[in-house]
Amino acid sequence: MRRRQSRLACAALAALALTCVAGVRPAAAPAPDPAPALHTALGRLWLGAAWYPEQWPETRWPKDLALMQAAGINVVRVGEFAWSTLEPHPGDYHFGWLERAIAEAARHHIRVVIGTPTDAPPVWLTSRYPQVLRIHADGRPAQHGNRRQFSYASPLYRRFCRDIVTRLAERFGHDPDVIGWQIDNEYTNESFGAAARRQFHQWLERRFGSLAALNRDWTTAYWSQTYTAWNQIPLNDRPGNPGLMLAHRQFVTATWLGYQRNQLEALRAHIAPWQFVTTNIGGLGWSAHWNHYTITRPLDIAAWDDYVGEGQLDFYRNGAMSDFIRGLKRQDYWVMETQPGFVDWAPISNSLVKGGVRAMTWESIGHGADAVLFWQWRSALGGQEQYHGTLVGPDGKPEPLYAEVARIGREFKRASPIIAGTTPRSRVALLLSYASRWAIDFQRQTVRYRQLRVLLDYYRPLENLTHSVDIVSARAPLTRYKIVFAPSLNVISKRLARHLRHYVLGGGVLVLGPRSGMKDRYNRLNVQSQPGPLAPLLGGRVQQYYALAAPVAVSGAAGHGTGRIWAEALTPHSSATRVLLRYGAGNAWLTGRPAALEHRYGRGAIVYLGTILDRRLMHAFVAHRLAAAGVHSPFGLLPPGVELMRRVGDGREVVIIINHGKRRRAVRLPYAMHDVLHPGRILRTVRLRPQGVAVLERPLQP
Ligand code: GAL
Repeated sequence: MRRRQSRLACAALAALALTCVAGVRPAAAPAPDPAPALHTALGRLWLGAAWYPEQWPETRWPKDLALMQAAGINVVRVGEFAWSTLEPHPGDYHFGWLERAIAEAARHHIRVVIGTPTDAPPVWLTSRYPQVLRIHADGRPAQHGNRRQFSYASPLYRRFCRDIVTRLAERFGHDPDVIGWQIDNEYTNESFGAAARRQFHQWLERRFGSLAALNRDWTTAYWSQTYTAWNQIPLNDRPGNPGLMLAHRQFVTATWLGYQRNQLEALRAHIAPWQFVTTNIGGLGWSAHWNHYTITRPLDIAAWDDYVGEGQLDFYRNGAMSDFIRGLKRQDYWVMETQPGFVDWAPISNSLVKGGVRAMTWESIGHGADAVLFWQWRSALGGQEQYHGTLVGPDGKPEPLYAEVARIGREFKRASPIIAGTTPRSRVALLLSYASRWAIDFQRQTVRYRQLRVLLDYYRPLENLTHSVDIVSARAPLTRYKIVFAPSLNVISKRLARHLRHYVLGGGVLVLGPRSGMKDRYNRLNVQSQPGPLAPLLGGRVQQYYALAAPVAVSGAAGHGTGRIWAEALTPHSSATRVLLRYGAGNAWLTGRPAALEHRYGRGAIVYLGTILDRRLMHAFVAHRLAAAGVHSPFGLLPPGVELMRRVGDGREVVIIINHGKRRRAVRLPYAMHDVLHPGRILRTVRLRPQGVAVLERPLQP
């Protein structure tokens, strides 16, 4: 029996070997113009929920959909995880229920996004073809009974995915009530089995060309690592050679991209151009497993799952993550999942405060979301997630949160035509690079260097002072920004250096943070000391870095304070290089050394800040830099806990103001604005109670 199964699988494997191995492209289906798909997804507000009709008797559907409609829900996501209902036995397709569910939703004016069911393979598949199972790093295969038990590198699994997705696309690809598709669900776990290993070696061979090049670029003479055959190169998740570790992350990205491409091509071949394709990014936004820029490039829109988990909304963190998601494709995006109050997986799965769900929803819209969908509508009576927050209880009746969501529904109806055609537009950006993110995380040098925290140290003052920050790839076009900040740009390849130099030459201001330019594209130390290829632009360099056990004093034109966690002693090389900050007494290696340099270059300037400043000094430093670059916001500084977001387009400005704090707050506007949520009202001052939201509008002069 075993042997027959593996023969079957071998035949399937052989047939697929050419089409499915990561990096080998099957014949590309003609890619339709993505613009119509965008038109459907963006440009109006969607309110939705994840709905699992397969878990309920059909007689219940009209009641659920009527309750959704009454709450203003106009989209549901269905189908992801439903493989065993869609194909209960190999080749035995049961799509009728999904067709009826979509039709019933349409009767309630609710449109549908179909999730491909591939995150949860049915047991007939994994038991008949155990070689599709994911292999943990320690060699154990994953088991059936949860989800994500498949190997992303398995050619055979990809064939089954392609088959079910093709059939779904054929059936629903022109259904007028289906507006889009979500591929899989939160790409998460890599596999370490034979298929992944083989593909890793092939990927390395394509990338390096020869073992001689790989041995050189990874410096394998160190600790006798020199490889004499590709298949000697280990694939694991343990600390090791920095070049190999970086290559593994890039391979993981390439493999997910291939996994996604397999389904994307199946969809593109059959769906109408007005149906969009996306995937829902998990991992609380900025997960470090794969490169989000690469994965979202071929998709029509970016979408993510926005959860708080334990505690309450941290609006800076959530704002930054939202800006990061908007920056993936540099356009509006969807929140494909968010928590209806609480989750079931946090150490303490507490509820957001009353009004918190509404505030979080409007925060997403302010940062460029055009859709917010709650996960989930109603808990399955059995299944692993019984404790999760929902909008409807086990009795089928609205939970207390339902009324808050219904209020959002009413507000979306009013605001949608006004928000349509607008999007956040920023003059400042934060730059990210996955190579840098990984390189630092592999070798942190101090457990205190947490890149998300460092990013937020920059984000907070930028958000407070400009009320609109883009977070984009360091390789994105930058000319629209007056000033960009790169907090931890550890890996600077020659190509990236050229891109940044071009930006500065043209008049941009580039502010580099600590650890910049230490590594090259192979994660080797740059022979030029930091910031590597940008040292000539800076007219200076980092002389030595220090992980700090205690803060050090720092002072300069922007004020006095401390540097924490990390400190680099800088040296100017040119008389044109200005010292902006210096370390004070306290740490002999640093005493009196420059902590920040500035050098004008071309029509722009480059600044290097070698330490992590305390919040007050960081605010002052950023304020200084923004003023020098001529960036300011007409709204000025807001009361604590108040967030202001701005969307512009179609001849108007929409401003969303949220009071996330615990006290009532008033915000004076620089000009009169229409109150979108209370038509007819014109405001000069906005008064907000805790969790209060105002949506304001003003026509812009052409
Ligand atoms: C997400 C996942 C959903 C659901 C949710 C619960 O990460 O995509 O399927 O499990 O978490 O919070």
